[in-house]
Amino acid sequence: MTSTYDVLLGRLRSAFDAIAKGADPVLRPSDRSDYQANGVMALAKLRGMNPRDTAALVLSHLDLEGVADVEVAGPGFLNLTLTTEFLNEQLRTLLDDERLGVGTLSGRIAVIDYSAPNVAKEMHVGHLRSTVIGDALARMYRFRGYQVISRNHVGDWGTPFGMLIEHLLDLGEDEAIASLSIGDLDSFYRGARAKFDSDDAFKERSRARVVALQSGDAETRRLWQILVDESVAYFADVYAALDVTLTPADVVGESYYNDMLEDVVSDLDAAGLLVESGGALCVFPEGFTNRDGEPLPLIVQKSDEGFGYAATDLAAVRDRVSNLHADEILYVVGAPQGQHFEMVFAVARAAGWLPASVRCEHVAFGNVLGADRKMLKTRSGETVKLVGLLDEAIQRADDALALRSNNLSQDERRHLARQIARAAVKYADLSTDRQHDYVFDLDRMIAFEGDTGPYLQYAHARLRSIFRRLDVPWDPNTAIFALHHDAERHLALGLLAFPEAVDAALATLQPHRLSGYLFDLAQRFTTFYEACPVLSATEPTRTERLALCELTARTLSLGLSLLGIEAPDQM
Ligand code: ARG
Repeated sequence: MTSTYDVLLGRLRSAFDAIAKGADPVLRPSDRSDYQANGVMALAKLRGMNPRDTAALVLSHLDLEGVADVEVAGPGFLNLTLTTEFLNEQLRTLLDDERLGVGTLSGRIAVIDYSAPNVAKEMHVGHLRSTVIGDALARMYRFRGYQVISRNHVGDWGTPFGMLIEHLLDLGEDEAIASLSIGDLDSFYRGARAKFDSDDAFKERSRARVVALQSGDAETRRLWQILVDESVAYFADVYAALDVTLTPADVVGESYYNDMLEDVVSDLDAAGLLVESGGALCVFPEGFTNRDGEPLPLIVQKSDEGFGYAATDLAAVRDRVSNLHADEILYVVGAPQGQHFEMVFAVARAAGWLPASVRCEHVAFGNVLGADRKMLKTRSGETVKLVGLLDEAIQRADDALALRSNNLSQDERRHLARQIARAAVKYADLSTDRQHDYVFDLDRMIAFEGDTGPYLQYAHARLRSIFRRLDVPWDPNTAIFALHHDAERHLALGLLAFPEAVDAALATLQPHRLSGYLFDLAQRFTTFYEACPVLSATEPTRTERLALCELTARTLSLGLSLLGIEAPDQM
């Protein structure tokens, strides 16, 4: 089905087009009417006309079927109020539509680069943000009909691997595997680092090992593979705990691009973009300067002949465009890497690897802060482990459930606690503008009241419980939406706005556009539920209200699932 929003926007576009091609209306939900159309002022400017006259002209071209009232407001806004018949029709179609009005595109490919932890290093809260935001985007894109290719650009190459492999040998393979497989990645890394910094012989061995690794020495490769496999297995456990859709097959680490790096260099050279600077091979993309106004280099090959992070990302862009045929490439990575990506994109464009038709974006995000508003750290000043946070959230949820009178078994309660904990952690991340920092406050995140994941889960479960208490069956097909009560109408308009929220989240790459919508819908529902008895209402009102409940439950459940949050039926 076409959403109400799309129907109205389509009509407005035709009216605008009939007056002046290229003028674009903006339609948004409004408090005073049902929708408000903006853009008349721009149209008036284009035509050299007075805005109110232009509004009148738009109206004379506008298909007003289903519109009860139009009002020209202020300096040329059009306020549209819909008829109940039209809303009824739209809601009835919604009842039959599993997708709740969200359309599907086809033939578009999106490559989403997210999570990307580093081998033999703990996943920290920055990786949590990337994983949670990236996974929500992947789910939304998939639902919208895109073919999504997830790329987990794991850091599995570079000079640290010399010391990591030597440390592995010192510990003995079995011992090393044992320590890595329990997820003690950081102490393994720290052990290697400590020796590297204090023991010259170890340092020498490590250097030689890097050379062996780069030249493809088979035994060195085997040892390297152990580190990679153990780490990737550990990441998979974290992904399972978080319930994200990444799989081991999505791991395409930095090492994957090794064989492409020579070509990156020679092709940049052939394109006349490569400059030698201080022994390194660099590109100076236009428009990037340092604080002193000097051109800024993107280092492609270092003076020791090694390739770095930038070279790999150049190879990756190229691979994603020419081999994966991406229409969109998203990089869900922390804001501090902003300049790196801008420069990589600029060089890729200059080299002709990244056509303008491909949307390529750094989906940047801010920091996770502690209660003291500083970077989240443990008491001893270490970076906080992701799994630890989740475990704590599960414990809190379990405690909260224990206080409620429910007849869940121990196992059921634990399962539910997991679902709630994940919702709490993910929702807190997805409900703020991703560019902003947010404070990691478990007490607030896990609360059943307020703008939280558990609150939305609870709203959904409460709706489902209405249907469990149903003594006389109901038939959704007979629902007629008369919408006599304001609260019913308000809820109905909220339900019809779902496709718009999904599209807004995708267009801006901001999941909080969807979570904000869901929170608003839950509040509309609460208002409705307080004002309008459901089960005790007489027919046909009872069926109408049950249908509104059903649509609300489905919208919450589908919307949460697009954010990667489960909606249990009972809480
Ligand atoms: N491994 C990197 C880090 O931990 C993130 C990689 C992001 N993706 C990319 N294509 N550069 O900071």
